[in-house]
Amino acid sequence: MFLKILLMGPPGAGKGSQSARLVEDYALTNISTGQMFREAYRRGEPLGEKAMAYIKKGELVADDITNEVVRQRLMKKDADRCFLLDGYPRTVEQARALDEMLEKRRSKLSAVINIVVDKQAILERMVGRRVCRTCGLSYHLVFKPTKKPSMCDACGGELYQRNDDRPESVRNRLDIYEKKTKPIIDYYHGRGILKNIDGMQSFENVYRDIRDALETLT
Ligand code: AP5
Ligand code: MG
Repeated sequence: MFLKILLMGPPGAGKGSQSARLVEDYALTNISTGQMFREAYRRGEPLGEKAMAYIKKGELVADDITNEVVRQRLMKKDADRCFLLDGYPRTVEQARALDEMLEKRRSKLSAVINIVVDKQAILERMVGRRVCRTCGLSYHLVFKPTKKPSMCDACGGELYQRNDDRPESVRNRLDIYEKKTKPIIDYYHGRGILKNIDGMQSFENVYRDIRDALETLT
């Protein structure tokens, strides 16, 4: 079965942490719009500059820019069969655009995994998050510390704090999530592919529950 998975949840829910394992275990192409924007910014590309102006403030990048980035990414050969979308779609407008992109390829989503986490946990997770500058893996000062201080366990890269993890940006991201992204849950409801996962558990148990949910499809 060619899995096409959408991983949803509020900022800090653990999408990036879980997707890192899912893409390995299910051989999926990882498509994270947030990651793509941050990489474009690091490479000094105009797209990155444009996107970072929104990201710094905790706002969503405009739909037309984001949809185009995903449309081009999905056209690449490695996204032909199996992929995992992390952080896209984030508005109903984007969800509609994704449906159109997939319909054109006579394809559709296999599962929408929605990680549910409460607000207090989100704040704790974001404040302590540190990310590898080289490979993008997420750590946490308390919940997932690195073996050596400020150095990625996987690639030895330097860790940094994302500029949208400051409290004022985080609050804005959570507000926007409630207003613009949460309605997508209703959009997918009724298709029989939406799976809610309790994200208030250990990394391992969240992963186990996602796997169990995927097993019911395959
Ligand atoms: P993006 O990079 O997608 O950020 P996000 O959705 O806000 O989510 P995060 O990456 O902050 O959190 P996560 O769920 O991946 O959690 P993580 O695994 O790191 O987007 C960034 C920005 O780009 C957006 O704000 C927007 O401006 C723009 N953008 C992106 N996509 C867009 C789109 N489609 N449209 C418009 N704009 C877009 O975990 C968080 C922390 O918690 C880590 O430290 C981790 O170690 C820890 N943690 C995770 N799970 C657990 C656990 N089970 N127990 C304890 N700690 C845990
Ligand atoms: Mg992420």
